[in-house]
Amino acid sequence: MNRLDGKIALITGSGAETLKSEVLGIGGATVIEFCKEGATVIISDVFDKEGSEFASELKSKGYDVYYKHIDVTKNADWDNVISWIEKTFGKLDILVNNAGISMPINLFTTTEADWDKTNDVNSKGCFLGMKAASALMQKNNSGSIVNISSMYGLVGSPYSVGYHASKGAVRLMSKAAAIQLAPYKIRVNSVCPGMVMSPMQVRKKANISSEKWEEFVGFLEDSPLNKAKKEWIPTSQIGLGIVYLASDEAQWVTGTDLVIDGGQTAQ
Ligand SMILES: NC(=O)c1ccc[n+]([C@@H]2O[C@H](COP(=O)([O-])OP(=O)(O)OC[C@H]3O[C@@H](n4cnc5c(N)ncnc54)[C@H](O)[C@@H]3O)[C@@H](O)[C@H]2O)c1
Repeated sequence: MNRLDGKIALITGSGAETLKSEVLGIGGATVIEFCKEGATVIISDVFDKEGSEFASELKSKGYDVYYKHIDVTKNADWDNVISWIEKTFGKLDILVNNAGISMPINLFTTTEADWDKTNDVNSKGCFLGMKAASALMQKNNSGSIVNISSMYGLVGSPYSVGYHASKGAVRLMSKAAAIQLAPYKIRVNSVCPGMVMSPMQVRKKANISSEKWEEFVGFLEDSPLNKAKKEWIPTSQIGLGIVYLASDEAQWVTGTDLVIDGGQTAQ
């Protein structure tokens, strides 16, 4: 409780579902963990109806939340919301660059358009967000940016190619930004989740054959903890890792990767 008291936090890709959803994404689950820790949270997404409903549901539970539209690939959207945050709160303490997309396509099946789309949202979106948010954070000489990479930013797989490139880019741009923003006491870290049951996985299941899905889920067996617990990592577990990096408990932590993958990449 109260680990993020008084903090103003912006979380991208966090409003596509509502509290009624069967499973919350990493963004939505992180919003809830941040609310529980006392933060003021700006939910943002491209799904405005769901995002506004999610914000209203949380407001009715007494949390201090707002919804704002940000397509992370659009610089103008970032500028609008960052200037609204400055006018409304005078500062921004935390940015979580969570918005992301994945397509189950490999080197042979990925088109140039697929590549551009994946890297636009996952990699360019993260760059634009860090640039816009850190300009405001610099005025306050403090801040924490948490970028959501993936264990697939650490290792390859048979399932994708553009996604790996985009998530590797997120990790390394986080390290570069950590060095460049340290003079302003702004910390930048990345989180590398393993197999997390989120709407992204639900959609993947719907879009591939049942044989391919079985093969993909069989991959869970490669993770020591997923195998032992016989389950996917819940999104709330990633949210708790993000809370730590965002909070003052991590005030000496910058330029690093927090891997939450059940031990999959330890092998
Ligand atoms: N689920 C996993 O197993 C897993 C593992 C590792 C990393 N990740 C990463 O975690 C993050 C969250 O993924 P998730 O699993 O919760 O998926 P998700 O599909 O549930 O959530 C992604 C969110 O990003 C939003 N989004 C997509 N394009 C956008 C854009 N252009 N602008 C703004 N928002 C946009 C979507 O509307 C959605 O709310 C992603 O970056 C993903 O790559 C997920």
